[in-house]
Amino acid sequence: MAVNTYVGRPYKGIYPSFGAQCYVDPSAVIVGDVTLGDDSSIWPLVAARGDVNHIRVGARTNIQDGSVLHVTRTGPDDPHGYPLLIGDDVTVGHHCMLHGCVIGNRILVGMSAVVMDGAVVEDDVIIGAGSLVPPGKRLESGYLYVGSPVKKARPLNEQERAFLQKSAENYVYLKNEYLRENAQG
Ligand SMILES: CC(C)(COP(=O)(O)OP(=O)(O)OC[C@H]1O[C@@H](n2cnc3c(N)ncnc32)[C@H](O)[C@@H]1OP(=O)(O)O)[C@@H](O)C(=O)NCCC(=O)NCCS
Repeated sequence: MAVNTYVGRPYKGIYPSFGAQCYVDPSAVIVGDVTLGDDSSIWPLVAARGDVNHIRVGARTNIQDGSVLHVTRTGPDDPHGYPLLIGDDVTVGHHCMLHGCVIGNRILVGMSAVVMDGAVVEDDVIIGAGSLVPPGKRLESGYLYVGSPVKKARPLNEQERAFLQKSAENYVYLKNEYLRENAQG
């Protein structure tokens, strides 16, 4: 298996760090204190800026094309600020904005969704395409949320719960193909 050759850019001397068999598209911009778990993937034109706080991405998570990941700095009234924490087996669809929030495990963030500072998405949640999760909102495990601002729509059915894991597996397979392709190039 080929290895990821992307190194990212430093901020204050800190480079991004990538787990085993990650794939990062060469057009992505990943800066500073950003870590990716094993088998995760970052697709074209993603921007992830771990400068004024850190970004942590778990294993087997995919961040799709054009998504933006950023954080909020610590301040006198807020010693922690808002890092961005994303769990394992998460699918972040195209053109999402994840800012200073916590995303659990086995989540689908629908295309063009926005998740703001201090929001917490518990495990096994689908966020509909184009949704907005306001600052500090908590999304309960096992539900579909849609709208701007998001509202709880209904519990996920078994098929949807299984799809969350399947979607992550599909992207592990796809990024392995890209790694092989690059090795041949
Ligand atoms: C929300 C979603 C999961 C569908 O859920 P669903 O319960 O099967 O919804 P349905 O298609 O049966 O539609 C039910 C209602 O929700 C509306 N709806 C569907 N998707 C919606 C969305 N993203 N935001 C707001 N409303 C939505 C429909 O228009 C319909 O409204 P109506 O009852 O007034 O006609 C799906 O539309 C979605 O957004 N998936 C995300 C896909 C994605 O972005 N994947 C990542 C790409 S890689």
